[in-house]
Parts: sequence; structure tokens; C-alpha cells
Amino acid sequence: MKNRFAAAALSGCVVAIAVSASEGELNYREHTMEAIGGHMRAIVDIVRGDVPHNDHLATHANAMADLAEIAPTLFPESAKGGDALDAIWENPDDFQSKLDAFKEATAAFKTAVESGDSGQIAVGFRGIGQACKGCHDNYRAE
Ligand code: HEC
Repeated sequence: MKNRFAAAALSGCVVAIAVSASEGELNYREHTMEAIGGHMRAIVDIVRGDVPHNDHLATHANAMADLAEIAPTLFPESAKGGDALDAIWENPDDFQSKLDAFKEATAAFKTAVESGDSGQIAVGFRGIGQACKGCHDNYRAE
């Protein structure tokens, strides 16, 4: 199905673009992954102590947990390509286990941040990093 003209009215200006449905899904996946990457880098800035924004940690942790909830919908078979390897669609059960691990890790990090305990936060943070890597190692082109 072609989504020929998607018109978006943003702050007073209208942008008309033509993309195919699969291209749209691929772009959306990459943009959402970039959002996940952005939250991750912001968390690193805070955890490393580069910025005095400990009170922002919950915002990033919650966003990450929310994004992990929608991550399973980012990989329709119609949107193969980009840096997403075909292995994703060839090994659906294993890929699903990576999505589950991501969801669990982000939920655990959220709980750790709520506890305010720096030890738990450090452990939770490492868990998220492992979840990203656990999936990228097998399912994302370098
Ligand atoms: C379940 C698998 C999976 C998990 C978990 C995952 N990613 Fe990804 N990520 C991918 C795949 C596949 C791509 C390639 C997407 C594409 O090119 O269409 C990607 C792409 C990216 C990109 C590049 C986006 C772009 O513009 O191409 C960034 C940044 C990223 N991931 C960050 C992260 C971070 C940070 C985490 C953990 C907090 C994470 N990802 C967790 C599978 C995953």
C-alpha cells in the first residue's frame, strides 16, 4: 500500500512528502532507535557525572522503558533493510528473546532509578547496555 502524500502541519508550515509504506516503517524504526540512542547517551552523561541533572534520570529511564514497549512493533517483515539484518525475520524466536530482554532491562533500570540507590542504578545501567549489545551483535549491520 502506498502512502503517497503524508501531510504534516508543524508549527504553521505544511510539509508534504511521498514515501512508500515500507520506507515509512524503515525510517520510523531508525528514528525511534535514534531516540533510544539519545536517551542512552543522556543517561551516560548523568551517570558519569558530566552534568548535575540526577533529577532527569527518571525521565530518561521512563522514556526508555516506554520505547522498549513499542520496540516489538518496529520490525514488520515489509520493512526489511537499512542496518537491520535479515536474520531478524529468519530467527523470530531468538529475536523476540532480545526484545524481551530489552523490555526487562529497561523496566529493571526504571525500578533502580526509583529506588535512588546508586549501586542498583549502576547495575541497571549495565543491564541496558548489555540488552542493546545483545541485539545489535546479531541483528544489526556494523
Ligand atoms: C531487539 C533488538 C534491538 C535492541 C534491544 C536495541 N536495538 Fe538499536 N537497533 C537494532 C536494529 C536492528 C537497528 C538497525 C535499524 C535499521 O537500520 O533499520 C538498530 C539501530 C540502532 C541505532 C542507529 C539508528 C539509525 O539511524 O540507523 C542506534 C543509535 C541504536 N540502535 C541504539 C540502541 C540502543 C542505545 C539500545 C539500547 C538502549 C538499542 N539500540 C537496543 C536493534 C536493536
